[in-house]
Amino acid sequence: MIIEPRMRGFICVTSHPDGCAQSVKNQIEYIKSKGTIDGAKKVLVIGASTGFGLSSRITAAFGSDAATIGVFFEKPPLEGKPGSPGWYNSAAFETEANKAGLYAKSVNGDAFSNEIKRQTLDLIKADLGQVDLVIYSLASPVRLHPVTGVLHRSVLKPIGATYTNKTVDFHTGVVTDISIAPCQDDDIANTVAVMGGEDWAMWMDALKAENLLAPGVKTVAYSYIGPSLTEAVYRKGTIGRAKDHLEATAFSISDSLKSVDGEAFVSVNKALVTQASSAIPVIPLYISLLYKIMKEEGIHEGCIEQIQRLYQDRLYTGNPIPTDEKGRIRVDDWEMRDDVQEKVATLWKQATTESLPEIGDLEGYRKDFLNLFGFDFAGVDYKADTDEMVGIPSIV
Ligand code: NAD
Ligand code: NA
Repeated sequence: MIIEPRMRGFICVTSHPDGCAQSVKNQIEYIKSKGTIDGAKKVLVIGASTGFGLSSRITAAFGSDAATIGVFFEKPPLEGKPGSPGWYNSAAFETEANKAGLYAKSVNGDAFSNEIKRQTLDLIKADLGQVDLVIYSLASPVRLHPVTGVLHRSVLKPIGATYTNKTVDFHTGVVTDISIAPCQDDDIANTVAVMGGEDWAMWMDALKAENLLAPGVKTVAYSYIGPSLTEAVYRKGTIGRAKDHLEATAFSISDSLKSVDGEAFVSVNKALVTQASSAIPVIPLYISLLYKIMKEEGIHEGCIEQIQRLYQDRLYTGNPIPTDEKGRIRVDDWEMRDDVQEKVATLWKQATTESLPEIGDLEGYRKDFLNLFGFDFAGVDYKADTDEMVGIPSIV
């Protein structure tokens, strides 16, 4: 079929298999161009099909020749209906890994469930014995709690007071003021249940209980901080409480991993265009200004550049892992540079529908957004008929 982008609200409901494959190949080429990383050899990535998790899998495989198991929740294609981008990304990743002689298998289903944990543990036991790196990179709006059976929904709201600021509809370029009402009742607890650290700890407990963690194992989950501009809706909002919980969980996991000489870390990453961040008001305007400045300064990074730097310059240098005063790894250091943030703050005041195309990187935002779904890649013939029924070679 011929597949074109089809938007519904903030999301794109189609995706392109060849474009997703191109995106994976581009990331692999980038990793190969940066040389070998003396990293982990048997890697479990939870949330491995898109965004930071996909880049983490690619960096392990093509930077360190690692065997990888990827866990994700993606939609397979149906005749005439493309699968989700993470499906096609994972198909392309496994194909390229196999070509390179690297072990790669995937588990598709709800990572919060006992069943998917069980299947993943069995696969590690059968094929790898133990893992020496576990990346935890889930981003989900809901979690069905495996013990209580409660379905928790996360919300992206300020706490305590209505927050009003500028935002942009990046599809139309229109800048408006929006107000977001504060969260209520159980919103904080629900958001913490979905995006906090409980599930990460459950994974690590289950892996440890069955002796599937190699001596010296590392585990890393991803967090975000961002500037004061977005604080009310992000770091001091409901999602920020979940990130506080995730960051605190790193310490309790580290305690539990002492017996295997292991350690847990949170890495604070840069703001990037993803399906999730596009749905948070205010963030797209921030990102479009940030991209403009970081590109001008020559310090712009996407997921693959961020994760390559995380592995090469933070996790696997052979020296102690550098962290901030709260024990977190920081690869958002370039985003948070004073000069960068001062420029964003200045441009923020000037941003209007008329000025944004000049002072912000709306084009870059839109391109990155389309790229998430496999569209707008050089080297892909979007007018050609393509096979939507692409399968993942080793899927459980
Ligand atoms: P993403 O949406 O690109 O990736 C999410 C992954 O989780 C996908 O592989 C998806 O299949 C998987 N997933 C979702 N629900 C699942 C479920 N129930 N079971 C199994 N797999 C499931 O998100 P991302 O932007 O790469 O975010 C990953 C982490 O990085 C999050 O913790 C996020 O907060 C953090 N982070 C994001 C940004 C940003 O700007 N995007 C910045 C810093 C940190
Ligand atoms: Na991810």
